[in-house]
Amino acid sequence: PFPIYRELRENTPVRFDEDRNSWDVFRYEDVHRILKDPAAFSSRRGLEVRGETLLTMDQPKHTHMRNLVNKAFTPKAINDLAPRISSITNELLDQVIQSGKMDVVHDLATPLPVIVIAELLGVPAKDRMLFKEWSDTMVKGVEGSSDEAFAQMVAERDKAEKELSAYFLAILNERRKQPEDDLVSALLQAEIDGEKLQEQEILRFCILLLVAGNETTTNLITNAVRLLTEQPAIQNQVRQNPELVKTTVEETLRFYPPIVAIGRMTTQDVEIGGQLIREGQQVVSWVGAANRDPEKFEDPDTFLPDRKPNPHMGFGFGIHFCLGAPLARLEAQIALEIMLSRMDDLSFAKTTLTPIPSPFVFGVKSYPITFSA
Ligand code: HEM
Repeated sequence: PFPIYRELRENTPVRFDEDRNSWDVFRYEDVHRILKDPAAFSSRRGLEVRGETLLTMDQPKHTHMRNLVNKAFTPKAINDLAPRISSITNELLDQVIQSGKMDVVHDLATPLPVIVIAELLGVPAKDRMLFKEWSDTMVKGVEGSSDEAFAQMVAERDKAEKELSAYFLAILNERRKQPEDDLVSALLQAEIDGEKLQEQEILRFCILLLVAGNETTTNLITNAVRLLTEQPAIQNQVRQNPELVKTTVEETLRFYPPIVAIGRMTTQDVEIGGQLIREGQQVVSWVGAANRDPEKFEDPDTFLPDRKPNPHMGFGFGIHFCLGAPLARLEAQIALEIMLSRMDDLSFAKTTLTPIPSPFVFGVKSYPITFSA
């Protein structure tokens, strides 16, 4: 989609799309302005059937909830996971290493984030497959374009959500009696001015983590490997300088961001890029276009594994900046480090790619590669 973004950014940087009844914004400066002004650009969704989550709250409620969950989601809690992330990655790679080929999506990038979040939440290993099925259903798109297919998808999702809620409720009740060293226990204990999270808020938050964190991290890992196979010179450069893995992950978030667009709704009339947007309008901020704006990034269409600084908006910006960013970064860094150290000559093994069928997501359904162990 990137050549199209470029054209739109140059020709119609702020435009109204009649078909979707929504505004589109493509320049870095304009996207940045939108994300840093949550009073004028609300995160509420028109049809909020599932109930509010952190992602769809506005201030001051958002601030309160975010402060509470920050207490549980600390950088230390995340960094402590590094050894586990490494051993899970190694175990997953053990299963394919002899064969000299793997599907990055299926064999590593999908299971890794699911297992990590399950452990972080305190889901026992015996329940992991059950948990994976539920979380897959939660993010599964529609198969086909018929109304029946859509209705079926919604029904499956609702069922998975109910079952997940019941499951987390059971964990929650156990942790209430006997706290453990996991996120659910920390969320139960988190407190600001004597106020704690309500049971329903914790349940919804746990589900949000699956929905917001799993597929995005899958796509980040896959997009990074994809880039390294598309540009073997960069693969060699990073191989020879492992300290570049960190900046390579950041550059992937700029160059191939898993989330390419972020939605908002105006709460008042506002002017963006010389256009007047009326109150109550949908606005889509195209991070995928902003991240390649030459006004902000030198040589924006070149992947520079050592780009610094790199103020990309792959994790958003402002008050809703991705809560899971430290976790996603850590998982992607560890996955790349271990792949590069155990596997030589990562190469793409097929010629056609199946994109994930969502205009808001940049990723592929499978990514087969070959390598030498
Ligand atoms: C918010 C991207 C991984 C949890 C966001 C936002 C973006 C984003 C763009 C901002 C949305 C907005 O402004 O409306 C990503 C990407 C990821 C990733 C690209 C992986 C590469 C994760 C993970 C978790 C997570 C692993 C949790 C385990 C959240 C939550 C929010 C959020 C809870 C809402 C924060 C708030 O509203 O205050 N993410 N995310 N994300 N993300 Fe992530």
